[in-house]
Amino acid sequence: MKGLILSGGKGTRLRPLTVTGAKQLVPVANKPVLFYAIEDLVEAGITDIGIVIGDTGDQIRAAVGDGSQFGARITYIPQEAPLGLAHGVKIAEEFLGRDRFVLFLGDNFIRDGIVPLVEEFRNGQANCQILLYRVPNPEAFGVADVRGNRVIRVVEKPKDPPSDLAIIGIYMFDHNVFDAIRQIRPSARGELEITDTIQVLIDQGFTVVPKIITGWWIDTGKHADMLEANRLILETQEPAMLGTVDDTSQILGRVVIQRGAEIRNSVIRGPAIIGEETQIIDSYVGPFSSIYHHCFIQGSEIEHSIILEHSKIIDVPHRIEESLIGRYVEISRSPIKPRAYKLWLGDFSKVGIL
Ligand code: DAU
Repeated sequence: MKGLILSGGKGTRLRPLTVTGAKQLVPVANKPVLFYAIEDLVEAGITDIGIVIGDTGDQIRAAVGDGSQFGARITYIPQEAPLGLAHGVKIAEEFLGRDRFVLFLGDNFIRDGIVPLVEEFRNGQANCQILLYRVPNPEAFGVADVRGNRVIRVVEKPKDPPSDLAIIGIYMFDHNVFDAIRQIRPSARGELEITDTIQVLIDQGFTVVPKIITGWWIDTGKHADMLEANRLILETQEPAMLGTVDDTSQILGRVVIQRGAEIRNSVIRGPAIIGEETQIIDSYVGPFSSIYHHCFIQGSEIEHSIILEHSKIIDVPHRIEESLIGRYVEISRSPIKPRAYKLWLGDFSKVGIL
């Protein structure tokens, strides 16, 4: 079997983080979201993987490379514009050939991996297998109507959902999907929808099998989901200590200190991760925080937040919570009178002040 990861798209809902960066490279527990998808495929024995890339393709190529770091072989497939998930599959037809394959949306996250699901599809007769998860807000997703072991209808973000079963962004197909894609037209949002493609398969009598999963699933497209994914991953990580911690600091609970990080006169209360070469001085880093590489935190308190590389947080008088802070951001006290907020914020920034 082969794998196809969709890593193009616009990422408008994660702005401003995604104004310049790929949303699939935003780190969760200090690892880009996309890497978890690659690892899930490799774990299921799928090492021949295509990645569909868009405007941020160069960043994705730089981060993933030829795939050898994952034990995989990566083929990049450029998509001229985000014309839909089914369009992403269509342009990968030559790469996928007649093989059965897993389609993995590069911003989807699933706790338990896909090993048994891939095994079943690989050896079974089904033409398509979709993963479903019960959610309180099905109208925000593709939704499936299921009878017994068959999917009888799928709809994309319906106003009046037929069930509470959201379609997870991990699908399995055989080659019949390409003919189905040739039969669909762009939706109201102007995209070739994978949901419409699956409906064509159902209408033409192909077997579409549902798998309802119970371990958590997150589509990390929004801020709150990103923090939630971060929390869930940090809770399961094994503590590790690869940096330096001085005598006046305290490390409590599940904490990972990555290579070259330095903790001075600070408290780190896990679950938390401190990135490579990051310095934490006279500060408190609380549960569910991921501070990425090369950051500098001094005289500040941070909890339940994700901070990207090369950012500096210095002498902030109140605790920073539930925040998502991008690359090369600086937050510090204004040094001179008048005492005032001095903000230099990019487009789509959000600040909550006390
Ligand atoms: O997350 C699950 C949901 O994913 C499903 O429930 C929906 O049925 C499915 O349509 C999809 O909905 P989204 O609106 O969340 O998809 P989004 O546009 O966010 O794209 C998902 C990923 O695919 C994202 O990593 C970007 C990438 N992508 C998207 C499009 C439209 C591409 O690479 N190319 C594209 O043309």
